[in-house]
Amino acid sequence: MAKLKVGVLISGRGSNLAALIEAAKAPDYPAAIVCVVSNVATAAGLKIASDAGVPTAAISHRDFPDRESFDRAVSTDLEKHGVELVALAGFMRIQSAWFPARWAGRIINIHPSLLPAFPGLHVQQQAIDAGVRVSGCTVHFVTPELDAGPIIAQAAVPVFAGDDADKLAARILRQEHRLYPEVVRWFAEGRISLIDGQVSVKDAATVLFSSEP
Ligand code: GRF
Repeated sequence: MAKLKVGVLISGRGSNLAALIEAAKAPDYPAAIVCVVSNVATAAGLKIASDAGVPTAAISHRDFPDRESFDRAVSTDLEKHGVELVALAGFMRIQSAWFPARWAGRIINIHPSLLPAFPGLHVQQQAIDAGVRVSGCTVHFVTPELDAGPIIAQAAVPVFAGDDADKLAARILRQEHRLYPEVVRWFAEGRISLIDGQVSVKDAATVLFSSEP
């Protein structure tokens, strides 16, 4: 069966991209990473992609007069590669409402907190400051409102006394690398449905728990 064509948008390190590329190497994985677009030309993730033979594009938002014209240029690149699912992976650019509308039901993001708690930036520090005992990551559909789209799946990790933001971020990141490839797999297998803003996933555990101490 044809593999689902996934385009990944990044701005930086690219460790989630690397996890997706790694997963997609398995012959029975039902999705292929067909292109990577970064708004930052120096993003380390671009090298991860090109080393893996995945076509890349660096499209700087600075070259466009407004958000929507940048978004349209990114979209054109994704279309050129026949993308069927857009995965945001550390893409640090707020998009115009046009982009999630263009890719409605076909654009997902991973966020390092248990949404709806702690949207936005510096979320691990927010979690520590709030004193929560459990945090984690969330994969959700993207809608115009930042970090607020319908939730598909979450992975939970403990927050320990003495954690700093870096320690917690590393613990969450290990779960991100498990969760994101799983969700892309479910999408490719046609197991995720989005009806009236509610997600249902057929035959899958949509919450993962860290087995780390
Ligand atoms: C991850 O923590 C992701 O959840 C957030 O940005 C970070 C990107 O890291 N949206 P990487 O570039 O995938 O290593």
